[in-house]
Amino acid sequence: MAQSAAIDGAGIGISNASSVEATYLEKYNYDIVKKFALMAIFWGIAGMSAGTYIASELAWPFLNFDIAQITFGRLRPLHTSGVIFGFGGNALFATSYYIVQRTCQTPLWGGKLADFTFWGWNLAIAIAGVGYLFGITQGREYAEPEWYVDLLIAVVWVVYLVIYTMTLLKRNQPHIYVANWFFISFILAVALLHIFNNLAVPVSFFGVKSYSLFSGAQDAMTQWWYGHNAVGFFLTAAFLGMMYYFVPKQAGRPVYSYRLSIIHFWALSFMYMWVGTHHLHWTAIPDWTSTLAATFSIMLLMPSWGGMINGIMTLSGAWDKLRSDPIMMFLITSLSFYGMSTFEGPMMSLKSVNALSHYTDWTVGHVHSGALGWVAMVTFGSFYHMIPKLWNTTIYSLKLVYIHFFLTTIGILLYITALWVSGIGQGLMLRAFDEYGNLAYSFIETVVFMHGPLVARAIAGMFIVTGMFFMTYNIWMTIAKRNTVTDEATSAAKA
Ligand code: HEM
Ligand code: HEM
Repeated sequence: MAQSAAIDGAGIGISNASSVEATYLEKYNYDIVKKFALMAIFWGIAGMSAGTYIASELAWPFLNFDIAQITFGRLRPLHTSGVIFGFGGNALFATSYYIVQRTCQTPLWGGKLADFTFWGWNLAIAIAGVGYLFGITQGREYAEPEWYVDLLIAVVWVVYLVIYTMTLLKRNQPHIYVANWFFISFILAVALLHIFNNLAVPVSFFGVKSYSLFSGAQDAMTQWWYGHNAVGFFLTAAFLGMMYYFVPKQAGRPVYSYRLSIIHFWALSFMYMWVGTHHLHWTAIPDWTSTLAATFSIMLLMPSWGGMINGIMTLSGAWDKLRSDPIMMFLITSLSFYGMSTFEGPMMSLKSVNALSHYTDWTVGHVHSGALGWVAMVTFGSFYHMIPKLWNTTIYSLKLVYIHFFLTTIGILLYITALWVSGIGQGLMLRAFDEYGNLAYSFIETVVFMHGPLVARAIAGMFIVTGMFFMTYNIWMTIAKRNTVTDEATSAAKA
């Protein structure tokens, strides 16, 4: 079985176990990459299962069971932190440490310091997560952890920056490949955002509660400056770093236009910082800040689509790979979702559109076309490429990769479509008037209308989580068969 699966993977040039890769095993620090990659899969299952559970609570509220710790409000931040920082964060640590070593042709700087980032990061998420279940939170979206966890994250992040920069400095390559630029800007931007948005005063030295240094409209603006840049740098720029390395690698061709990738980088880094207040349209903030954010959001469409086209066109001359290589399918579909969500986002940032979309599920649908369609898909594709290389073996089964791909794609399409129906429908109902100028629908009528789409979204979650289990099994078996394949490669090299 292992033998046939090895042929299965090697047949289309996927991650051949080779003697060259065997030398990398000794040269580079792959242990840390392995730890982060496996932890990302763990958090992916935990976070997406929590997502599916809260989606089910919205469809069938009895699932709250009147137990405070598992109510929607407590589990929701567990889901968002689990998927963004647990799944996404660990995946970014893994791939950035892998990419920086291979593109700079030098081992990671700092030895055991990288282990500190692993334990520190995951400990922070675990402490924060347990805290949410007991109602401990700053109440700031994506920045829920209290001050003591924030301090730990700040230390881990500075160490991450030092490791990354020092590795770049001691590179054996004159050029710094563009993927590293995206990673460095992500690390710097997140440090800035994290520190400023979390400036707070603890109520007492041993107390868990703290209060923000900001208040009122400034508080909201600081929070959404953070919130959107968490999207812009954490969920976008960093995953673009991943894309710029793994798409050309998997396609076996250079990136379509290196010049375009540099324009993409600078335009994105400059523009994202200005758009935060599109989350606060029609509120008590100064109107000009709203207009400024909408203007920059519209401009962001151009570099985003430039990047998407650059990624997709990297396949030109090798389009046939889309027929035979499910890993390529993951990567190219992720780019299509990147394009879709970066078209939808600018549109939603227009004040007139936002007046309809803001308090509805349309926003949540948009979030997941980016978070699942782009972020999760590009991660899956990259992992299927990278993990066999880490163990110098071949993927166990391409059929299972296909199954994972289709379960995920069907799940995401169902998720987004259901929430377009639910969100746009609710938005239209809430602003409908009868002939006397009274509201045509009560709030509860909109909730009744949304029940069907919410059930569909919960089912979509089940598809996606099932896909994750297929991935876990496939990766488990890939690692399990490493000895057979590695031995073959080593003896072939010796012969
Ligand atoms: C099985 C897959 C998933 C399911 C079923 C799911 C479900 C949900 C649900 C039910 C909510 C709450 C929506 C509400 O408050 O009305 C939510 C929010 C959210 N999820 Fe997911 N999710 C999944 C995967 C992901 C992934 C992979 C990410 C990120 C990488 C993500 C990021 C978010 C974010 C950022 C929010 C907050 C959205 C907002 O405030 O508008 N989710 N998710
Ligand atoms: C050009 C790119 C993009 C623009 C201009 C944009 C714009 C927007 C707008 C206008 C909203 C609704 C704000 C509101 O009504 O409260 C929003 C929400 C959101 N978007 Fe995007 N978006 C973009 C791309 C993305 C991508 C690629 C992702 C994910 C990877 C993403 C994740 C989110 C999240 C998580 C929220 C919900 C925040 C919350 O309310 O909790 N966006 N975006």
